[in-house]
Amino acid sequence: MSPISKNFVRASLVYFCIAVILGVSMFFHGPLRGSQLPYIHGHIMLLGWMSMMIYGVGYHILPRFSGNPVAYPWLSVVQFYLANVSLVGLMVSYVFISSTTGIPTQFFAILQAISIFMFVVNIWCSIIAPKEA
Ligand code: HEM
Ligand code: HEM
Repeated sequence: MSPISKNFVRASLVYFCIAVILGVSMFFHGPLRGSQLPYIHGHIMLLGWMSMMIYGVGYHILPRFSGNPVAYPWLSVVQFYLANVSLVGLMVSYVFISSTTGIPTQFFAILQAISIFMFVVNIWCSIIAPKEA
C-alpha cells in the first residue's frame, strides 16, 4: 500500500473516532441536537470517515483493476492535504460563524469540492489509461 493510501486510511480512522464521540455526545446532551453538531458529526462521518476511506482504498485498488498505476501520484498527495485542510477548516469555521453561508465556510467548501474533483480526475485517468505492458 502506498504512503498516501495509508495516510488517507489513518486520517479516515481518526475522523471516525471523532465523529462517533460527537454522535454519542448528542445522546447524552439533548440540546446539542438543535445545534451545529448534527451537521458537523454528519460531515466528519461522510467527508472524513467514508470519503477518506474510499480515497485510501480507492487509490490502492481501483487503478489495479485496469492493470495501471495511479495516473498522477503527485495529485493524490495534493488532494490529501487539500481534503484534510478543507474539512477541518469547514468544520471549525462552521462552529465559529454558525452558518453555512459565511465567506470562510464557502471558501473551505470550494476547497473540499476541488479535492473531490482531484480524486475523480485521477481515478478516471487511471482506469481509462491503456494497460501497461
Ligand atoms: C455511534 C454511532 C453514531 C451515533 C451515536 C450517531 C448519532 C447521531 C445523532 C444523535 C444525530 C442527530 C439526529 C438528529 O438530528 O436528531 C445524527 C445525525 C447524523 N448522522 Fe449519525 N450517529 C452515528 C453514526 C453515524 C454514521 C456511521 C454516519 C455516516 C457514515 C452518520 C451520519 C449522520 C448524518 C449524515 C446525520 C445528519 C446530519 C445533519 O442533519 O446534518 N452517523 N447522528
Ligand atoms: C464539499 C462537500 C460538502 C459540502 C460543502 C456540504 C454542505 C452541506 C450543507 C451546507 C448542508 C445543509 C446543512 C444545514 O441544513 O444547515 C448539508 C447537508 C447534508 N449533506 Fe452535505 N456537503 C458536502 C458533502 C456531502 C457528502 C459527500 C455527503 C454524503 C456522502 C453529504 C451529505 C449530506 C446530508 C445527508 C445532509 C443532511 C441533509 C438533511 O438534513 O436533509 N454532504 N451539506
